[in-house]
Amino acid sequence: MDKKIIAPSLLAADFANLQRDIEMVNQSEADWHHIDIMDGVFVPNISFGMPVLKAISAHANKTLDVHLMIVDPDRYIKTFAKLGADRLTVHYEACPHLHRTLQAIKAEGMMAGVALNPHTNVSLLEDTINDIDLVCVMSVNPGFGGQSFIDNTYDKVKALKALIERKGAKTLIEIDGGVSSENARQLVDAGANVLVAGSFIFKSEQPAQTIKELKNLIA
Ligand code: DX5
Ligand code: ZN
Repeated sequence: MDKKIIAPSLLAADFANLQRDIEMVNQSEADWHHIDIMDGVFVPNISFGMPVLKAISAHANKTLDVHLMIVDPDRYIKTFAKLGADRLTVHYEACPHLHRTLQAIKAEGMMAGVALNPHTNVSLLEDTINDIDLVCVMSVNPGFGGQSFIDNTYDKVKALKALIERKGAKTLIEIDGGVSSENARQLVDAGANVLVAGSFIFKSEQPAQTIKELKNLIA
């Protein structure tokens, strides 16, 4: 069986104790750090930008999985590569020239991801799936942590897995939003490879233990 990945979303960390929370993830059984960049235009919220990412990058010792919720992400691809992003995910809805954007991400040595809003059908990736390293299926409307999981996600994951298999692609399926011990196993059974979890981990009493529990649930 292939390895399943847990990616804690730092959006739910205590920003006044960011180094402490990054160290917790470093020491935990988590596989990646998930970093949410929001511009207040593509989504109705602003998270943090380059200086904060630079600080995160200096302390994080696992794969940096950067999720851009911004318009015109092409402008910043080189910058994110310099700041240490290992994986860069752009939104389908923000990229009129998606194929070009994916090539530009890979040219900087990063893995290329595409995120789909809840209303965006997976069939729209039919012509690009072989160029995509990861599809991030948004299981909430992007912009905020702590929202309720959208149940239609299971069907979407199954459809995406079928598309990946039909095309012989090697794309990973990531789920982002409202992930918890309630839905983790079912998501993996539907075909998910990577689970992002923010509130469920950071708002729990013992975040490192919660990560361990999630890992055990999907093993
Ligand atoms: C939402 C972000 C998510 C968010 C998930 O727009 O992309 O990564 O942090 O948070 P939870 O797990 O609290 O839904
Ligand atoms: Zn995210």
